[in-house]
Amino acid sequence: MATVVDHVGVGHLVVTRHSLVRQVLADPATFRPDNALDAVTPLPVAALRVLAGHRFRLPPTLANNGGASHPEIRGIVADALHPTRVAAQRPWLTGLVRERVARLRATLDAGVPVDLYADLAADLPLLVLARLVELPDAPVGAVKEFARAALELFWAPLDEPRQRALAAEVGRFHTVLRGFAATGGGLAARLRAAGHSPDVVVGALFFLLVAGQETTSQFLTLLLHRLTGEPTVRAGLRAGSVAVADVVEEGLRLEPPIVTWRRVAAVDATLGGTAVPAGTSVVLWLARAGRDPEVVPAPDEFRPGQRGSRRHLAFGAGAHRCVGAQLARLEAAVVVAEATPLLDGVRVVRPPWCPDNLTFRMPDAFVVARR
Ligand code: HEM
Repeated sequence: MATVVDHVGVGHLVVTRHSLVRQVLADPATFRPDNALDAVTPLPVAALRVLAGHRFRLPPTLANNGGASHPEIRGIVADALHPTRVAAQRPWLTGLVRERVARLRATLDAGVPVDLYADLAADLPLLVLARLVELPDAPVGAVKEFARAALELFWAPLDEPRQRALAAEVGRFHTVLRGFAATGGGLAARLRAAGHSPDVVVGALFFLLVAGQETTSQFLTLLLHRLTGEPTVRAGLRAGSVAVADVVEEGLRLEPPIVTWRRVAAVDATLGGTAVPAGTSVVLWLARAGRDPEVVPAPDEFRPGQRGSRRHLAFGAGAHRCVGAQLARLEAAVVVAEATPLLDGVRVVRPPWCPDNLTFRMPDAFVVARR
């Protein structure tokens, strides 16, 4: 653990050890989730005005909700993402990925580079999510832009002009969501029927559209990139001696798309023998916790199935543990099974570049070509 002062002079207690990260996540009464969506760079009045112009509000709904309404809202979302509903998507998703992989293979065979982020991973999670949870009828590109703008606005170090531009983008989409929350079917209708206010319905949709698709696109991209440098793992997959599910777990451990997640100390507390005063921002370094040598024998090596591989905290833990974990795992399993063979005999033309961000990796592209 160490106290780290950020770019605006705010101190955070950064926690890396697996056991301590777990301890914090398992104790939401002491370490509340209220700050989960707070802007890392405080929003200036000009950006707040832009958001207010769109009637933007993010009340506690899911990840930032330490209150009494959380279990019920979570339950409604969890029903929509029930493991049986998720599993039912597998045949359709496999067909779609297979078709894309065939197209990408033909392109590579013709000597043309392909972008495995843009041409494979970027929109898949959104397409699946749209089948599980009715979503506003917005074009995929607009949702991706909004989601990436939100991740930047709330989790990146930014200057004021950029904050204003991002606030405009996020605010515009929030207006679309507000309309959908009032009339839309599926999840929005169920939340309304349970008596939740329009703000809560918008807040839940807002979070799902970001957390439920952007994270997984990022993970798929990072995992495929990692696998280009792991020929032994690819050979094991080909031979059937390495299980796809184990590759996904080792990927989540080593390449989690969400690097950190925050909590705030609700009372004066102690963590690993250190005093943590009430109000302290606690940054849980999930990615480091996955590489704790006390949990995995070869922390930096990609060894599917190694002891402790599945004990990563990529999905968090406790009352707020990711509700989409099953879905993310299914999507990754299908992509690993169908797309890994594409990586044989390719060279990386452009590795993913990830911008400065406290929490999200946000790779921008991943271009490969035939060797
Ligand atoms: C690889 C992909 C994903 C990763 C790494 C990930 C990770 C996380 C993490 C770290 C949290 C916070 C957990 C905590 O506070 O303990 C979270 C919460 C959440 N995630 Fe995910 N997530 C992924 C994909 C998804 C998907 C596909 C969905 C839905 C379609 C989703 C929906 C949610 C929701 C609704 C929450 C809030 C849960 C609550 O507060 O009760 N996530 N996720």
